[in-house]
Amino acid sequence: MRTVVALPGDGIGKVVLPESIRLLDAAGFKANYVWGDIGWDFWCSEGNPLPDRTIKLIEQHKIALFGAITSKPKDDAEKELDPSLRGKGFVYFSPIVALRQKFNLDICIRPCITFKGNPLNFIRKSSNGGFEEPVINTVIFRQNTEGLYSGVEWTNPPKNVRDALESNPKMAAFKNIPSEEMAISTRIVTKNASERIIKAAFEYAKKYGYRSVTLCEKPNVLRETSGMMLKIAKQISQEYPGIDLWDTNIDAQMMWLTKNPEDYGVIVAENMFGDIISDGFAGLIGGLGFACSANLGDEYAVFEPTHGSAPKYEKLNPSIVNPIAMFMSAVMMLDHIGENNIADKIRNAIADVIAEGKFRTYDMLKLKGGPGVFEKGAVNTQQLTDAVIAKLK
Ligand code: NAI
Ligand code: MG
Repeated sequence: MRTVVALPGDGIGKVVLPESIRLLDAAGFKANYVWGDIGWDFWCSEGNPLPDRTIKLIEQHKIALFGAITSKPKDDAEKELDPSLRGKGFVYFSPIVALRQKFNLDICIRPCITFKGNPLNFIRKSSNGGFEEPVINTVIFRQNTEGLYSGVEWTNPPKNVRDALESNPKMAAFKNIPSEEMAISTRIVTKNASERIIKAAFEYAKKYGYRSVTLCEKPNVLRETSGMMLKIAKQISQEYPGIDLWDTNIDAQMMWLTKNPEDYGVIVAENMFGDIISDGFAGLIGGLGFACSANLGDEYAVFEPTHGSAPKYEKLNPSIVNPIAMFMSAVMMLDHIGENNIADKIRNAIADVIAEGKFRTYDMLKLKGGPGVFEKGAVNTQQLTDAVIAKLK
């Protein structure tokens, strides 16, 4: 039997992950779950939000379901550290970013696919004055380990860095700015990682029948980094004659988000642009309660909703939050390991619950979150799970 590492993390991660496992069990997915420690509690008590024992579990079992973690700014993190650990050089880091780097989970997939009948679906005015609700079926491939989020950055860059930069003529514009008044974040793009993410995007398009792959970058301005990605995309597209390569600029793409989002199939981008565009598309299909993701490397895979720990709601019992983003992340895991029948079964059950409209969490009813949402007709997280389980066929 397969073993899955369950990493609930903080806040609502501790609610939506167990509910997903309840659903997986009900759908007939046979697995053992081993629970791994990750998140804020372990930062506070051990000075490490990603303990070595958790890394070992993932090394051993290769596949993890992850809920959400809480991150706080450096000074707040230090304040909440156990008094016996303070001042000993512990520095907080985001354990999910660390997981992506440690296990080289360089391919991030974020599907944004409309559920029929979701009251949060994007609608727009049509030319005859009525409204139309385009069906969105876009899957974003985000490079997950480099680009502008590679972490190579300085405030007050040291002299050798400054000198290296001065070798570029464009630095002339900054020549009178003292280094102390300068902050620099670098955008590093490599050939190998670009080939991997673009190839993964085309392979996915081929497997699931998408007719286009769009590289969403900004090669007219970011000539080196976006330029390299565009060149690689053009080469790789040659190997996929049935699939068109489109390229768009990130800014224009955001503008087109509300004009013609239904035109886009697979989209591929660098880390930050992929982050932006996937949130943009997620907004068209219901937002954080629906946004799922996979982080894939050659050997390891971590599946997670893109939302955070929602501290505002973590103490509410029963919980009000929407577990569908976590459910759909679990469905991505099933697809990844070849359990496609169970994946379809769960996907269809979720679609039925949404289309029927009898059970809605507060977000789907467009309510302000809080304990009062139940009086206004919202169901709680467990009830939504029950409704999905009841629809499994
Ligand atoms: P968040 O995603 O936790 O919440 C944003 C808003 O969406 C809040 O109003 C929240 O209540 C709502 N929301 C989130 N998930 C929902 C769900 N499943 N159903 C219904 N409503 C939902 O982001 P926020 O507030 O910016 O950050 C809270 C904490 O989470 C921070 O400590 C942040 O660092 C962390 N975070 C962690 C992430 C991760 O674990 N991958 C991603 C984003 C934030
Ligand atoms: Mg984001």
